[in-house]
Amino acid sequence: SSLFERIGGKPAVEAAVDLFYEKVLADNRIKHFFEGVDMKRQANHQKMFLTYAFGGAPNYPGKSMRQAHQRLVDDLGLTDEHFDAVIENLGATLKELGVADDRIGEAAAIAESTRNDVLCR
Ligand code: HEM
Repeated sequence: SSLFERIGGKPAVEAAVDLFYEKVLADNRIKHFFEGVDMKRQANHQKMFLTYAFGGAPNYPGKSMRQAHQRLVDDLGLTDEHFDAVIENLGATLKELGVADDRIGEAAAIAESTRNDVLCR
């Protein structure tokens, strides 16, 4: 079965969203990227991110990933260190929820596979 199913599917994503959201918005390395983005879209982002990292959205098109983050790269200098910070928050969130380390590693690897699209290169 997919990582998405093994971690617990949609309910697990929903449980993780609030915690992840809190961590991302409290992280001085990355919180500024979410300034001015409305709460609903921010929550949507955290959900999309987690669904993706859980392997629940296997065909996310690179083109729209690029489009979604182009402004952040061009105007706000989104780069590897910020991407790393998000991955770190993902790991901390899943750890706090009791997800096993090997599954956290799988989730990080899936998120990792989008790095070049998110960073528009
Ligand atoms: C926008 C997914 C990484 C910050 C989006 C959107 C998606 C998405 C689907 C469009 C959402 C919408 O418009 O409602 C992902 C995925 C990622 C990733 C799957 C990696 C696996 C990141 C990182 C950051 C970030 C590393 C910043 C540290 C944002 C922000 C927006 C956005 C601030 C809103 C942009 C705007 O409204 O102008 N992301 N993202 N994302 N993403 Fe990501």
